[in-house]
Amino acid sequence: MSNVKSYIENNKNKFLNELIELLKIPSISADSAYKKDVLLTADFVLESLKKAGCDNVEMCETPGYPIIYGEKIINPDLPTVLVYGHYDVQPADPIELWTSPPFEPVIKKTEIHPEGAIFARGACDDKGQMYMHVKALEYMTSTGNLPCNVKFMIEGEEEVGSESLAWFVPRNKEKLANDVILISDTGMIANDIPSITTGLRGLSYVEVEVTGPNRDLHSGLYGGAVANPINVLTKMIASLHDENNHITIPGFYDNVEELSTEERAEMAKAPFSLENYKKALNIDAVDGEKGYSTNERNSIRPTLDVNGIWGGYTGEGAKTVIASKAYAKISMRLVPNQDWKEITELFKNHFESIAPKSVKVVVKPHHGGQGYVTPIDNIAYQAASKAYETTFGKTPIPQRSGGSIPIVALFEQELKSKTILMGFGLDSDAIHSPNEHFGVFNYLKGIETIPYFYKYFTELSKKK
Ligand code: BES
Ligand code: MN
Ligand code: MN
Repeated sequence: MSNVKSYIENNKNKFLNELIELLKIPSISADSAYKKDVLLTADFVLESLKKAGCDNVEMCETPGYPIIYGEKIINPDLPTVLVYGHYDVQPADPIELWTSPPFEPVIKKTEIHPEGAIFARGACDDKGQMYMHVKALEYMTSTGNLPCNVKFMIEGEEEVGSESLAWFVPRNKEKLANDVILISDTGMIANDIPSITTGLRGLSYVEVEVTGPNRDLHSGLYGGAVANPINVLTKMIASLHDENNHITIPGFYDNVEELSTEERAEMAKAPFSLENYKKALNIDAVDGEKGYSTNERNSIRPTLDVNGIWGGYTGEGAKTVIASKAYAKISMRLVPNQDWKEITELFKNHFESIAPKSVKVVVKPHHGGQGYVTPIDNIAYQAASKAYETTFGKTPIPQRSGGSIPIVALFEQELKSKTILMGFGLDSDAIHSPNEHFGVFNYLKGIETIPYFYKYFTELSKKK
């Protein structure tokens, strides 16, 4: 693998230009107006896997968007790595806050990325990170450095809950059989502080609808005498946290795993500056559950957040009205052991029970999934750790993330294999936000590090 650095140096511009082409296609899975583009992106991924040396590349049809599968089996006695990623992206809005158009990728320098970063929706989540694997494979196949078997499974519905993948996986267990699943769809601490994600939170996502009077009312004629659904909804939402920011839903914390003092002390060793954190977000104070640090609040503790709230008049000027209905979208991030279906049920029962008689409440569950913790005492983690050591010159720090990739728990259930999360994004890369970007350094470093994972995983598998 000694030539991986020079291979990347020689192909750097090609690698960047190809990713830029991929980023130009607006593959927004949430919005059916982009269906054609999502399908075009699937074609792009399919072709790129063929060019990278994959065999049996196919567009696997599902009830939703297709899953791209490809493989390179060099010897059935060798281990098999299954790479997962997603080619769909989040919607780009609010579009007016982008400094350059979301689907016209440009490379710009930033304070954190002095070598430049590619600005585009999906640059980091997940097209850039998924494409690192395609290019790492291209390097390995074209230079005779592929040490084991590899399978690729790239989906187009991750950002909307991976429904079709959950349909596909149990139906294709043999095809997808593997020794380890490798995913780059998370982050690391900083470009000089590599880390490996060892946990993902689960998720329960619900929408609530509060209905008051059967029509919108004049807020003078009726105001004060009839329940205002927006007032009621905001009061109900406010009651979901107590003065210590604990969630008030009965039973919510029942299965939450409490970390030991030692585990928390270990976590607290990870480099973190609260001052820089606040500065980067332009806030004067952080906020969260009493008794826990910022890093604990955003990884090992469950949360409840309103993601959107609407109703009534929000247009220009003023309209005096009491709306008939008010709505909110609420997400709960869950920790391992909390069952997302159970939590959804608890939320529904509680939210309905706290509704005053003056309104009607409907809770609609959206999607969800289980959290995940990756073990660090197995060869997959050791191989990943050695890979980062080789290319970063530093041992990576294991760190639990607050984000969710619900399909990972399903992989373990259906395919009986562990997942290793080698993410190369940074929290400041603004995924799901305007001005999402991915460092050129991170992109190339990912392509460099991935082949070493294959090498060490194969070597460590032989020793077993
Ligand atoms: N790649 C993210 C998840 C992520 C990002 C995990 C950074 C850890 C660190 C993924 O695409 C995502 O956005 N997941 C959703 C859940 C999904 C069901 C819509 C999330 O976490 O909100
Ligand atoms: Mn992602
Ligand atoms: Mn995402």
